[in-house]
Amino acid sequence: MQSALAPAGDQSAAIERVWDLMLWICVPMYVLVLLALGLAFWRRRPGGYTVEGDRRIAVGLTAFVVLIAGLLTVLTASSYVADRRLHAPVTDPVNVRITAKQWWWQVEYLDADPSKQFTTANELHLPVDRPARIELRTSDVIHSLWIPVLNGKEDLIPGHDNTIVMTPRRTGAYRGQCAEFCGLQHAKMALEVQVDSAGAFDAWKAHQLASAPTPSTPTALAGMHDFTATACAMCHTIAGTDAGGITGPNLTHLASRRTLAAGALPLNRGTLAAWIADPQAHKPGTNMPVVALQPRQLANIVDYLMTLQ
Ligand code: CUA
Repeated sequence: MQSALAPAGDQSAAIERVWDLMLWICVPMYVLVLLALGLAFWRRRPGGYTVEGDRRIAVGLTAFVVLIAGLLTVLTASSYVADRRLHAPVTDPVNVRITAKQWWWQVEYLDADPSKQFTTANELHLPVDRPARIELRTSDVIHSLWIPVLNGKEDLIPGHDNTIVMTPRRTGAYRGQCAEFCGLQHAKMALEVQVDSAGAFDAWKAHQLASAPTPSTPTALAGMHDFTATACAMCHTIAGTDAGGITGPNLTHLASRRTLAAGALPLNRGTLAAWIADPQAHKPGTNMPVVALQPRQLANIVDYLMTLQ
């Protein structure tokens, strides 16, 4: 799910072809050079060689130089062709904006119609066989988005908008990772990637656009009240409730995600409760503070958050 040698998209396939070509050119060349070196040792003469004195050496050297120049030209050309593929114009893309934050990813699905825009976190869903045009921003330091199965790395730089295009060709669950050292939790800054059929992607999108359902059990209902009445709501948004903070990840459909805290933990009741009770224990340095909660409040809030499918 995270290998540049198992491409699942057009751009990563173009990069992999260059990689293959380099391997198949450079390995035989390395062997050839070592063979020539071995031969020279084996057949050395006490007086040494001179190019003038042995025509075979002059011919051999010339052949080697021509071969090297030719192969380097092939590698340069293939690299150029791959680069053109990575930056080819696309039509009818899915428009996404990813904003890197210490240490998680905000993912916004853009649309000319504002009612069709929504925000999620740490999960990128894309339809297969359709290009995605992803705007890259950061709200703090330099990060780098790397989803090896779909494309190479692209930096997210303060004050400078970048764009990357990915055209997935194979459905499946993949993984991306921040590839630029960005502080204490750089290693725990992962991005889940899900490539779906067009139908499944549209269904996911429609679901994400909906507000969170009002909980039906008394504990979850109490949890909703506790969440919106405490500091939780200052940082997190849950659409359809009074929680509207934008500092932390949008939690409207938290329970539909596979992981917690940018891939740091699998998402279930236990990890969620442990994360809320003491975020620093799981991700030292994280900007998520400890909110003073009674044990009953914590249990209710976990009940509530797990209803946010
Ligand atoms: Cu973000 Cu490393």
